Amino acid sequence: MQALINGFSKLSREEKINALIEQQKLAPEISSTFAEYLHPYKQNLFNDISENTVSNYYLPFSLAPNFLINGRLYMLPMVIEESSVVAAASKAATFWAKNGGFQTKVINTIKNGQIFFSWSGSIDLLNPLKKDLLKLFLEVSNPITKNMRSRGGGIIDFELKSVPNMLGTHQVLLKFKTGDSMGANFINTCLETIAPHFINFINQHKALKKETQAEVIMSILSNYTPECLVECIVRCKIESLQSYSGSFSTYEFAQRFKTAVEIAQNDPYRAVTHNKGIFNGIDAVVLATGNDFRAIEAGAHAYSSNHKHYSSLTSIKLNDTHFEYTLLVPLAMGTVGGLTNTHPLAKAAINMLGNPSASELMQITAAAGMANNFGAVASLITTGIQQGHMKLHLVNVLNTLNATDEEKVKVNKHFKDSVVSFSMVETYLKELRN
Ligand code: MEV
Repeated sequence: MQALINGFSKLSREEKINALIEQQKLAPEISSTFAEYLHPYKQNLFNDISENTVSNYYLPFSLAPNFLINGRLYMLPMVIEESSVVAAASKAATFWAKNGGFQTKVINTIKNGQIFFSWSGSIDLLNPLKKDLLKLFLEVSNPITKNMRSRGGGIIDFELKSVPNMLGTHQVLLKFKTGDSMGANFINTCLETIAPHFINFINQHKALKKETQAEVIMSILSNYTPECLVECIVRCKIESLQSYSGSFSTYEFAQRFKTAVEIAQNDPYRAVTHNKGIFNGIDAVVLATGNDFRAIEAGAHAYSSNHKHYSSLTSIKLNDTHFEYTLLVPLAMGTVGGLTNTHPLAKAAINMLGNPSASELMQITAAAGMANNFGAVASLITTGIQQGHMKLHLVNVLNTLNATDEEKVKVNKHFKDSVVSFSMVETYLKELRN
């Protein structure tokens, strides 16, 4: 085995790149690629975001217009690498803006934190002491929660539970509200402050003395946030669905749409892909606004498994005349704190949305998820996905094949009305070049 590198983080940027080139036996040109994407005068800001930064990873920051959400028109910031996402979102948003827009509402904004502890006593012995415990939790966390409470947040409640199948392992499941922040640091600080006091309480309580000493195992927020929930609904007359129904009648289109949603509700393989289409929109807004996409994905996918199996996050109602489509998704988002304060483009994204509250951002983000899912399912049940997808992907294929501007024009013209695949473009380019 090659020697491990000690103290890598202490090396200068150049030394880090040299160490990489040497260890992985790379061509030195990689160094100029890294250099090319450094920021000319704000690089320190990006260096501070993560350790061992040697360059910046660019992704497009795009605008998706015409999102009419609860009667207010927004232009959404979207950061995404998949070429068709912004186009599909904009198309669906424009369609729905002409048909009543997205109706959204926040169901609740409760977030959770857990203190796990070992103890031989029964959790039933602690439940009668809940009132004293709540008083203790509020008291010891007071210096941390003071500001948050003035913004309507803080500790809301808690539950005491044993961990299934683990004798002697229990948890305090605390419920929080975190105002306009995502609240991860706030929750974790509260938990780590409360945990030792909680353990002392148990160990020193006269009525609990004969049990073995309680001990903290760990304290951490939970990214499972089934009560931090937002709903987004679109509804229209079935006859209005014409611009999406392709060669089908609008009624057939609506029926096919319903079948597609029911498949996603009943088949986990399809449900995952169906929900991925929702996250095309959600993640793009989450990334643009500097929120934690891993937390949101983990929480929402767990929520999708709430029933007996993994299922669709959307549901549909149809009658003879009306189409109504609903997305219900947990989104633990913030508009203050974290990257939202430090990344200039996250700040700009929040600014262009009118500096929304966290609840408003949840609703805007849900609308993006709805738009992309609606567009994807509509394509799937009519033309298929590849027609639109590959047309938008064509430019990436052309760039991969180093096409000149002149070649791009010719290829675009050639494939204007036909199906596109990588190999077809490659073959056609070869013919052109010969
Ligand atoms: C592709 O990024 C997303 C889709 O697969 C979503 C879906 O199948 O519903 C098209």
